[in-house]
Amino acid sequence: MDLWQELTHAWQSRYPLVWVASWDEARVEQRLQALARAIFQKPDSLYVWTCIAGFGGASSDTRDPLQALEFIEAHPAGGIFMLKDFAPWLNGHPGLVRKLRDLYYRLRTQPKMVVMVSPDARVPELLKRELYLVPVDIPTEAEIVQYLQALFRTQAALQPWQALVPRLAATMRGLTFNEIFHLVQRLAQRPLQHEQDLFETVFAEKEQLVRKESALEYVPPRWSLEDLGGMDVLKDWLRKRAVLFTPEARRQDLPRPKGILIMGISGCGKSLAVKCVSSLWNLPLFRLDMNLIFSGAYGEPEWVFHQALRQVEAIAPAVLWIDEIEMGVGRYHETGGEGRSHIFSSFLTWLQERAGDVFVAATANRIHLLPAELLRKGRFDQIFYVDLPDDEERKEIFRIHLRKQGADPAGFDMVALAAMTKGWTGAEIEQAVVSARIEALHEGVPMTMDHLVTAIGQIVPLSKTMEDQIKAIKAWAYDRALPASSSAAKRYR
Ligand SMILES: Nc1ncnc2c1ncn2[C@@H]1O[C@H](COP(=O)(O)OP(=O)(O)O)[C@@H](O)[C@H]1O
Ligand SMILES: [Mg+2]
Repeated sequence: MDLWQELTHAWQSRYPLVWVASWDEARVEQRLQALARAIFQKPDSLYVWTCIAGFGGASSDTRDPLQALEFIEAHPAGGIFMLKDFAPWLNGHPGLVRKLRDLYYRLRTQPKMVVMVSPDARVPELLKRELYLVPVDIPTEAEIVQYLQALFRTQAALQPWQALVPRLAATMRGLTFNEIFHLVQRLAQRPLQHEQDLFETVFAEKEQLVRKESALEYVPPRWSLEDLGGMDVLKDWLRKRAVLFTPEARRQDLPRPKGILIMGISGCGKSLAVKCVSSLWNLPLFRLDMNLIFSGAYGEPEWVFHQALRQVEAIAPAVLWIDEIEMGVGRYHETGGEGRSHIFSSFLTWLQERAGDVFVAATANRIHLLPAELLRKGRFDQIFYVDLPDDEERKEIFRIHLRKQGADPAGFDMVALAAMTKGWTGAEIEQAVVSARIEALHEGVPMTMDHLVTAIGQIVPLSKTMEDQIKAIKAWAYDRALPASSSAAKRYR
């Protein structure tokens, strides 16, 4: 539901207390104005309160929040009462909370609705049951076009770029009107030579906003499949689907995959594989940090999670990366907590029912923590299992990391290296190559096979110390997942 539908719904269901989580006061006010006009069939049925001016023109002073509520209660006519900046007053004022609860019962039978607008979605615990929560609302593309056209008309510097508005609007999806306003002011002050300048400014800004205001982190497309050793089956799967996310394919409405889950032994390149997707498919990649969500740093976890999902949807097409998904849904699902299992179940529903433009790439190390519901058919298009790399794959990984460290793989004995590192993960191979390079740097000579052999001797691979865990992971994956590499598939049989 959009903002208008939510507000109408709240009114029709006779919710007298509404909490709108939005940064965009102006937009909410405009909507409430329209709603009030539609309901009461006359102007001036919206009353706006701020702590500076109270309800304005009213004869009695209503700046005090308690008096403001009394004013609403005593008001002879019906109306919509919008309270700006009310949230901070509720903290530590049990009297106000009490008054609001009284109003909840009293106003249900009167044509009055109190709407509190706050960028903070943390609804006061005590009022949870009485408040109708309207989650943050993001403007549609058509609304952005309208808004941009109006803004561009008022800015001389931007007038030559009017024709770009529809395309710019598409890139601004996911921003609020306030954010768009500030972004346009900044554009107007910049010397703009080429249309590319405009788009780059918008992209840079958007990245920053996403980083600042949610648990989403933008991951730049810095990795390609050439950086990833092994996993031929997974790579093939990804390559075949690259065409499905082009604008052309979207126009033709070709079926798009909705998500994958990559699980397996830690350090074998699961996260790396996801990072490759964005450059391969040319889609922005956002990492959702479940730990950050549950930390409460951005507000109530449930709301933050919803907001993040909605934000990615607004920015879509995009890849949503949920790294170590077991940390979020798994562990919290097990240990209970109402909000947490609520997040989990709404996440499952979202996974299944969302429109196809957000591709979810989830990774998991500790798969025994994954709840069975997550693995059921329909949630992910494919579940991949990443095993320890075999001889050939380890050679490939050595070559990748030797090149990364500025060495020519031709100068190294790949067969010997593969033989020395049976059971090693990609991360461990990388670690060996990096410490060999540091050693060589210290000696002031180019890296040689000797440096590498010494470095290998100093690393105890995970598979030695965690043999049992690795066996358990393999057994678990056996009939639940598709091996990411064809050699692992052979070993399975
Ligand atoms: N298959 C691989 N090919 C190339 N590098 C790898 C591979 N696996 C691991 N690495 C190296 O180890 C690092 C850590 O791996 P990561 O993707 O975080 O593993 P995981 O997510 O499976 O725990 C990677 O950034 C990469 O440098
Ligand atoms: Mg990882």
